[in-house]
Amino acid sequence: MLINQLDETAMRDVRVACATLFSEELAYDDSFIENLSIETVEKAYWQKAKRCYHHLSPLSSRSEAQEALNDVRNSLETLTSFLRTDSQMVDEAPRIGKIIAIGGAKGGIGKSIIVANLSVLLASKGFRVTAVDLDLGGANLHLCLGNKVLLQNNINDFLRKRVDSLQDIAIKSEYGPYLIGGDSAQLGAANIDFGRKLKLLRAVENLNSDFIILDLGGDTSYNIIDFFLKADYGIVVTTRDSASYIGAYHFLKAAMYRRFNRLFGPESRFRMYKNHQLEQLIREMMNPADGGWPKSINDLLEKVRQEQPDHFPFMCEVVENFNSYLVVNKVPNRLLRTFDVNPIITRIQQVTRTWLAKEVTYLGSISFQPEVENSMIDLVPVVAKYPKGKMAEELGSIMSKLFEQEI
Ligand SMILES: Nc1ncnc2c1ncn2[C@@H]1O[C@H](COP(=O)(O)OP(=O)(O)O)[C@@H](O)[C@H]1O
Ligand SMILES: [Mg+2]
Repeated sequence: MLINQLDETAMRDVRVACATLFSEELAYDDSFIENLSIETVEKAYWQKAKRCYHHLSPLSSRSEAQEALNDVRNSLETLTSFLRTDSQMVDEAPRIGKIIAIGGAKGGIGKSIIVANLSVLLASKGFRVTAVDLDLGGANLHLCLGNKVLLQNNINDFLRKRVDSLQDIAIKSEYGPYLIGGDSAQLGAANIDFGRKLKLLRAVENLNSDFIILDLGGDTSYNIIDFFLKADYGIVVTTRDSASYIGAYHFLKAAMYRRFNRLFGPESRFRMYKNHQLEQLIREMMNPADGGWPKSINDLLEKVRQEQPDHFPFMCEVVENFNSYLVVNKVPNRLLRTFDVNPIITRIQQVTRTWLAKEVTYLGSISFQPEVENSMIDLVPVVAKYPKGKMAEELGSIMSKLFEQEI
């Protein structure tokens, strides 16, 4: 396994899987991991699985054995998906692209329009771009990209193993970017298991593109939040209406809780990160006994400072390293020229500071343009129709701010 290609999270997933299938000692042995083959992993899986099946017979320990079996299966999926990716990398040497995820907790605020036009804009500058539709229930990115025909294949075909690689279902759209279409329900929290989500995350990451742009839809399920957390740049879209920007805080808060959960909670099956009391505390703050909203991250940090002081600095570090970006869409033209749009941004930033203990970075606004509505009728992305128009200019300035340079 090419471990120097793996980031910290990926490396942790690999070590967890190795600890489950082999031993804790081997999970820390880099040369062992480097020399792992699919055959060795499969052999270890069968040995462990057989032991679980054996324990499945006495009814008393059934659920425990079932849980162990799930762990073993997930570990197999994890390691084989990394090993397959490795062999793909050797064969096809895909470039590792930057992932930009576009999310927000509400429909109709322009996420898909932004993903489509941003993809067209970056493709027009010569980048290889793939737009991926991960919107649950509302997959329509293909329409925003001008694709009038029904998609032959979508992400579900990859998840159901009807196609071997995600790259195989990418189609080149008429306006430059590649498109991986969505279909929906399968991605729902209940339907996609850990191993398959991991497989999809890896596959998305290894798409052969300079930029991989994800349309996350308005969903805040963990499966979708995990894509937001994996992205190099996580952008939340809002409009000026309060339901939309309250949705934006909830999305970010859910993402931050998810990050804590993955580090300390049940999904972190790695002893060094696991902490029962802290896990309990995070759970209580996330699902308050009074049935209210999850507590703010500031409240969580304060509680950790009092009750788990050893973990306080690390928790603060996690919050500090949580970067997120904000784009305000559908701003009336007259407001863009005045400062009226600023109070909303100030308000959003204030709230993120208070709730999240970390301010979201404002990247810019996109004006309300009738051309956008027309683009959904004639199915030509605005940026393709007006390459020097307002949408291209506004998205260009948002990208410059994001990359802190002209691209
Ligand atoms: N900047 C804009 N100006 C005018 N209309 C817009 C703009 N952005 C989005 N829209 C309109 O809002 C509708 C919903 O956008 P869409 O991208 O599908 O939202 P989401 O993906 O968030 O559900 C689009 O059909 C489009 O008509
Ligand atoms: Mg959408």
